[in-house]
Order: sequence, then C-alpha cells, then structure tokens
Amino acid sequence: MAFGICFGVTLLLSVWATAKCGDIPNEALLMECRDRFFMIAVDLSFAGNNPHFEAVDATGVYAITKRYAALCGYIVRVLPLPGIVELRASYFACHTDNKDDDMFTFNFNLIMMQEGKKSTHALKKTCSLSLPWSPREVTCEVNYMEVSVRSVVPCPSGTKETDWNSLKQVYTSATSDWQVMLRKDHGPTTPMMTPLNLSEAHEQGYAFHMTDGRLVFRAPYKQPHSYSTKGNSVPVEVVHAILFSRHGWVVLMVDLVAACSIHKGSYDDGGYMVWETPEALYPTIEDQRLNIALHGELVDQQVAEDQGYIVENLNATIQISIPLDAEGGYRKSRASGGLYEFYIFDLYLEQVFVNEDHMDTRLRVHRTLTTPLLSRPVSSENRTVPEERMFTVYLSDIPEDVELAAVNLNGKEFTVPFTSARGPTITQIVLPNNTHGYTLKVSFDDPVVMQQFSKEAAQHSLNINFTLMVWPENVPFYHLVSVMAFTDASPPAFDAVCSESGISFKLNHRPFDYLWEISIGSNLLTSELAAQHGYILTNNSKHLLLEVPLFSLGYEYKDVTLKGFFGTFEIFVREHETVESKNSTVKTCPFSTTELIICSTDGIMTVVADLSLASPSGGAPTGTNLVDKNCQPSDADSTRALFSFPLYRCGSRIKLVKDHVTYENEIFFSKKLNASNDIDRVTVQCTYPLAGLLSLFSVYKFKSDKAGVGRIVHSTQVLQSTGIKPATVVSTRRTQRPGSRLAARHPPARYIKVSSFQKPLPNKGVGQHIKVTPYVL
Ligand SMILES: *[C@@H]1O[C@H](CO)[C@@H](O)[C@H](O)[C@H]1NC(C)=O
Ligand SMILES: *[C@@H]1O[C@H](CO)[C@@H](O)[C@H](O)[C@H]1NC(C)=O
Ligand SMILES: *[C@@H]1O[C@H](CO)[C@@H](O)[C@H](O)[C@H]1NC(C)=O
Ligand SMILES: *[C@@H]1O[C@H](CO)[C@@H](O)[C@H](O)[C@H]1NC(C)=O
Ligand SMILES: *[C@@H]1O[C@H](CO)[C@@H](O)[C@H](O)[C@H]1NC(C)=O
Ligand SMILES: *[C@@H]1O[C@H](CO)[C@@H](O)[C@H](O)[C@H]1NC(C)=O
Ligand SMILES: *[C@@H]1O[C@H](CO)[C@@H](O)[C@H](O)[C@H]1NC(C)=O
Ligand SMILES: *[C@@H]1O[C@H](CO)[C@@H](O)[C@H](O)[C@H]1NC(C)=O
Repeated sequence: MAFGICFGVTLLLSVWATAKCGDIPNEALLMECRDRFFMIAVDLSFAGNNPHFEAVDATGVYAITKRYAALCGYIVRVLPLPGIVELRASYFACHTDNKDDDMFTFNFNLIMMQEGKKSTHALKKTCSLSLPWSPREVTCEVNYMEVSVRSVVPCPSGTKETDWNSLKQVYTSATSDWQVMLRKDHGPTTPMMTPLNLSEAHEQGYAFHMTDGRLVFRAPYKQPHSYSTKGNSVPVEVVHAILFSRHGWVVLMVDLVAACSIHKGSYDDGGYMVWETPEALYPTIEDQRLNIALHGELVDQQVAEDQGYIVENLNATIQISIPLDAEGGYRKSRASGGLYEFYIFDLYLEQVFVNEDHMDTRLRVHRTLTTPLLSRPVSSENRTVPEERMFTVYLSDIPEDVELAAVNLNGKEFTVPFTSARGPTITQIVLPNNTHGYTLKVSFDDPVVMQQFSKEAAQHSLNINFTLMVWPENVPFYHLVSVMAFTDASPPAFDAVCSESGISFKLNHRPFDYLWEISIGSNLLTSELAAQHGYILTNNSKHLLLEVPLFSLGYEYKDVTLKGFFGTFEIFVREHETVESKNSTVKTCPFSTTELIICSTDGIMTVVADLSLASPSGGAPTGTNLVDKNCQPSDADSTRALFSFPLYRCGSRIKLVKDHVTYENEIFFSKKLNASNDIDRVTVQCTYPLAGLLSLFSVYKFKSDKAGVGRIVHSTQVLQSTGIKPATVVSTRRTQRPGSRLAARHPPARYIKVSSFQKPLPNKGVGQHIKVTPYVL
C-alpha cells in the first residue's frame, strides 16, 4: 500500500548576481539566517517613512505587496518600537534560489526615499540550512500558512476511509499534470471540490512549489477553502490540499495540511500575556517539545520558564504566559487623560509532533500579541523636610518614552529645564529599570509659594501641575500634587546684653524675618532713625546689632539711688503687613553714675547731684534743701544728694521760653569753711516742649508725651558775678515713652493757667542768677 511519490519537477532558477550596494551603513541593516527564513531588518531612521522591498530572481523583479507577500512567503512589517522595518522571507519563498534544499540565496531590492529621491539598494543574502528538514514542516506566519513535506514519504500505516473516498474521485479525474483538490472539512460527507490545475490554484491564492526534495504549499489566511475549527475552545484555521497526478495506473497523491492556532492572545490580570494552542494540532505520541522566542533565537521551554514564562497544559490546550517584562517584548506609553501603556510581543514558537511512524511534524508559529491599554499611574512622593524650608517632591516611575515638559507652580508655568539660577529646581534621576524620576525643589520662601500666617505658624502651600509628554507622538498628560507645610513663624527675639555705657540688642536673621519689622516705640527702626537718636546700628546678611547708649532716647529709669539706678530699653517687633505689635524685647540694666537728672513724663524730677563739684575747695555738704526748705533730700552721702520731687513743687520757678517750658529749682547746701558757714547752690532744670504738655492744662495733672531735658548747673561762689560759670552740666536727652503720643493741640486760652502753678521765688542768699538756655531739639 505504498504511495511512492517522485518528482521530476524543479524550479529553474539561476543565480542572480547583484552588486552589493555599499551605501547602507552596517548598523542600519541586519541580514540574518534563521532556521527556516531570512530575517532582514533596516533601521527606520535610515530607511525613512515608507520603505518597501522587491524580490529579484532570474525571471524579473517582483514588488512585495501585501497580497503578494502572503502568497509568496514574505512578510514586511514596520515596527515603530524598535524603530525598524522587518522583512522575513521563507526559504521556500517564490523568488529564493534553492540549492538542494540546503543553500538559499535571496536577492532583493530595498527601495526608499532619501532626501526626496527614490533610491534602490540591491541586496543579497545566502543562508545554508542549520537544522535538517523534518518530514513535515508547518509555518504559521503572521500572514500565511505554509506546509512542506518530504517528497518521498512512506505510506502512513493507518490510512483513513475518507482518504480512500478522495482517491476514487482523483482516479477518475486525474491526468498526468499535477492537480489539486482543496478540502473544506474533515467529515466523510463533505463533497469534494473540483480539482484545479496548479495555475488555477495559484490564481485563487494557493501557491505550490516543488523543490529538489520537498513539496511546498502556501496559502494566506481566510482563503475560501480554509476553515476554522475549535480545538478545545482554541480557534484553529486549517487549509487542506491534496495534490495528485496520475501516471498510467499509478496515482501519486500528497496530503498537505496546514493547521494553525489563530488565538489572538489574552491579557491576564496577573501581568501576563497568554497565548493558547491545542496540544495535539497534529497527531503525536510523544510529549510536546516546545521552543520559545521573542524576536530572537528559540530557546528550550525550560530555559523560557526560568526566564519567567509559564507553560501549562490545561484541558488539552497549551497555554503560554509571557511576563510583561520579558526580554524581547516592547512597551509603549500612551497618554489619554492619564498615562497608559501597552506591550507588544513577537512570539515565535516551535512545536514538534511525532506520530506513530516517527514522522516528525515541525510547527513554527509567529504571532504578534498586543496587550490592552493598561493603566500606568505616575506616582509622586512628598519628600519635604521642613527643616530645609524647601518643598521636595519626587515624581517617580516615569517610563523611558515619557518626559517632563513643564511644571506649573500655583498657576505659574516653568518649562523644563528651568533656566533661572534662582528659584525652583528640577533634577532628573535615571533608574536602572528603564524608569526615571524627577526631584522638584521649591523654597518655602519662593514667591510662587502661597503663605498663610496664623498665631505662631506659617502655612506654605504649593499646587503642582506637572506636564508630561509621551514621545514620539508628543501627547501631554498631567499629574497633580498639592503639598503643604507648616513652619514656625514666631516673631524674632533679641539677645540683649548690658554694658557700662548702654544696652546692646542682637538679632540673628532668619529667612522669614521679612515678615516682621522692628520699631522703637512707634517709629520704625531704620539707619536714619538710629543716626538721629544716637544708636549704633550694624546690619548685615547674618545679624543685626543695635547698641543703645545710656540716656539716649527711649530709656526709662527707675530705682534711682545714690549707688545707681536701673535703665530699661524696649524693642518692638511688629507685623510688617498690619504694623501690629507682636512681641517686644525689654532689657533692664543696672547703671552707676555720680550725677543724674531725670525729668519724667509724669512730672517728677529726680536728681543726684555731686555738690562737691560746686566749689573748688570741696568739703562735705550739709543742710541740703531745695528752694522750699521743707524739701529735703531723700538720700545723701558725703558729697552727693538725691532729690525726687514733683516739678512744680518745692519752690520751682517756671519759665516759658518760646515753645518750651522750663521748671527750675536749686539745691542749697552749706559748707563748713574755716568756721564760717557758706551757702552754695546747684541749679537743676527740666525743660519740656509745650506742645506735648496739653493734658497738663485739661486734667490738672502733669503729663507729657515726652520726657523732659534735664540740666544740672554747678556754680562757683562768685558773689559779684552776673553770670554763672558752669563747672559741669548734666543733662538728659529727650526721651519718649512709647505709645503715649498726644495730639499736639495748643489752645492759647488755657495757656494762662500755667501761672497759677507758679510760686514766688524765695529771694534768698547771694542773688546768684542762672541763665537758662533751653535745650533746643
Ligand atoms: C488550467 O485550467 C484552465 C481551465 O481549465 C486552462 O485554461 C489552463 O490552460 C490550465 N493550465 C494548465 C497549465 O494546464
Ligand atoms: C475543557 O474543554 C471542554 C471542551 O471544550 C470544556 O467543556 C471544559 O469545560 C473544559 N474544562 C476546563 C477545565 O476548562
Ligand atoms: C524601578 O525602580 C525603582 C527603584 O528601585 C522602584 O521604586 C520602581 O517601582 C521601579 N519601577 C518599576 C516599574 O519596576
Ligand atoms: C494642568 O495644566 C494643564 C495645562 O496647562 C491644564 O490644561 C489643566 O487644566 C491643569 N490641571 C489643573 C487641575 O489645573
Ligand atoms: C508633606 O511633607 C511635609 C513634611 O514632612 C508634611 O508636613 C506634610 O503634611 C506632607 N503632606 C502634604 C500633603 O503636604
Ligand atoms: C516673645 O518672645 C519671647 C522670647 O522669644 C517668647 O518667650 C514669648 O513667648 C514671645 N511672645 C509672643 C507674644 O510672641
Ligand atoms: C537688615 O538687613 C536685612 C538683610 O540684609 C534687611 O532685610 C533688613 O531690612 C535690614 N534691617 C534693617 C533694620 O535695616
Ligand atoms: C581757712 O583758713 C585758713 C587759715 O585761716 C586758710 O589758710 C584757708 O585758706 C581757709 N580756707 C578757705 C577755704 O577759705
């Protein structure tokens, strides 16, 4: 029962010599021999937008169009992700030169547009067979199915009845020319198709080649004579041709069946792309041997599993699960509201089936599997360290084909890269897993940051809108983050230090001190104010130092004794915006002095006078009193006396000079000089500007908005003298009490009442006259 098949048909092919075009750079062109096909890849950046190919043989030049490729064993694909145009040509393709089924030469033209001109590059590749042909070889290409069988095949042991039925028809209709019958189904009742001669079959889209030792049949998918079945729920497409020829009483008949799983692949939520094929697409008695590749060399199933693939036999179906990060796969980002991605896998699979007669069938499948759009969220992390006074936001997990284009900070747009040397910064961090991230830093004090102040804290907030671009399509999407931070915003506090001559206040600048301003009383501290008041102000970027000499404006004095007194100075910190006082630093220091006169705002004159200075001979003063003898010192020692009395009491004289009023009194004392009692005196004065004294006239109580200016005038005892010769003058400067400014009203009617306080001067003693010069402000 042997159907011996012999062929005398060979395709006449001659070696077509071509001058290899030298102008394609090596790195732009790849020509490789794979087990069963040529693999040609040209870099798109070189080949331009629309490259195409022509197959060349001795008979002519044939454009590889889509339809022609499927019929003739080619596939041309543009793969934007690796950026190549790829041509796979079967060793049995129409125009390949075949030498003994062992050496294949493919001549072809690459045609592309270069600088607006069409250019043709003639190319050639020769491959010799690396793996011997199996008795039956099936290729399920992306666009065609191809089956080739050894031309001398022993008769299968179990020839089925349907085959005999076919034979009857074959026998009656066969001629010596090869004819083909296409079968639409496996069932015994299916009517046979009318046999076609080979050129008719070719016209209908079926290609047959006869090589030295093999018979090849090829058909595109979805041909009228192909049919779909479901092998265990996996869709399978089958094309079945019976080729026959009758030579006398011998009928030569070849059964050519190509069956391919046309499973499209499905995405498994676990992160795998799954492809299925029936376990026994061809009869087999052995366990399946599987080799797998993604766009490369086939590897053993075990090796693939070690790389993360999962191969399972379930319900007579082989399930191959490809991990998304499998090497050889491609991923692409897509912006659509948010960020999405999809993966493309060029699965290449080899299965070997072994039947009872140990006639192997080697099946090779090429499938392009694409995942659905998968959400690929970009994440951001708040890495702010409040102590740095800086927002740090880390934008992570950005795929390679996505770039940061701009950042909008509270409505202000910054394009990346940031050009300003100052202000927000952006740094890119590239990670080894093909992702990158960006670190955005924005100072809390940057003008774009929104600030809100409450009690002791400042709230800084920043709304960030990142514009990210997916390349190369240049489609944007946005990622929003809001960050907020609270910082201390307490008013600054001074360090105050006492010295012999005054008080020093020191302030270390903090970045947010611009929120505050410093005032002395109600006056803003400026270098002009400091100069005017005699303060020494030193200010640099690090700190501010204010030295306030004793008796300068702003001091308050208390606890005056002969030993010393306390001086107090206060610095106010107020809010820059509201001018509302927020804190103050008050420093009180002990001072010692030999003499002192204080003219307080509430009308008390406090004076420590060194009476020994009045006369050159010195001597202990005794019997000290003011003009009013009843006014005695509150303390005294051998040379000095302390008086504290209301200005207008104790016999004070009042003088109005211009716009000032001067209260003047005298300290009388006697010195024991050679048994004769000499009376001497020291004149003390307090001068106030009238403008600040208005309440005096309305409430009958002394109140000045400014402290008066005091003078102590020591006189030598020169009886005839018409003027005095002051030995020493102690005077206090104008001081001001904060927050007690009065409106400067000056109604003349009430002016008169001043005289009612005036007491007659006791006309006593030597008639010495003191000329008073008011302190001119
Ligand atoms: C094939 O058959 C068609 C129609 O029957 C005929 O016209 C044609 O000549 C045949 N071709 C060959 C090569 O026999
Ligand atoms: C196995 O396949 C059969 C036939 O398609 C089906 O009825 C059965 O549910 C499948 N079993 C499993 C576990 O998928
Ligand atoms: C990439 O690596 C970084 C750092 O190791 C990690 O945080 C991130 O999740 C990784 N991304 C992906 C997509 O694996
Ligand atoms: C983010 O910026 C883009 C582009 O400027 C804008 O269209 C979008 O509305 C912004 N998103 C928000 C929430 O402000
Ligand atoms: C960000 O980090 C800062 C500092 O750690 C923290 O105060 C803040 O609450 C965080 N969250 C947001 C949304 O800003
Ligand atoms: C004023 O400053 C001092 C010293 O830093 C601090 O103890 C006090 O609480 C502050 N007072 C106010 C009202 O801020
Ligand atoms: C002191 O210097 C700082 C910065 O150098 C400035 O902001 C501040 O206004 C200055 N203060 C005064 C009182 O001059
Ligand atoms: C006191 O008297 C003595 C002798 O009589 C005389 O030398 C001295 O100068 C007198 N002192 C004064 C201060 O007059």
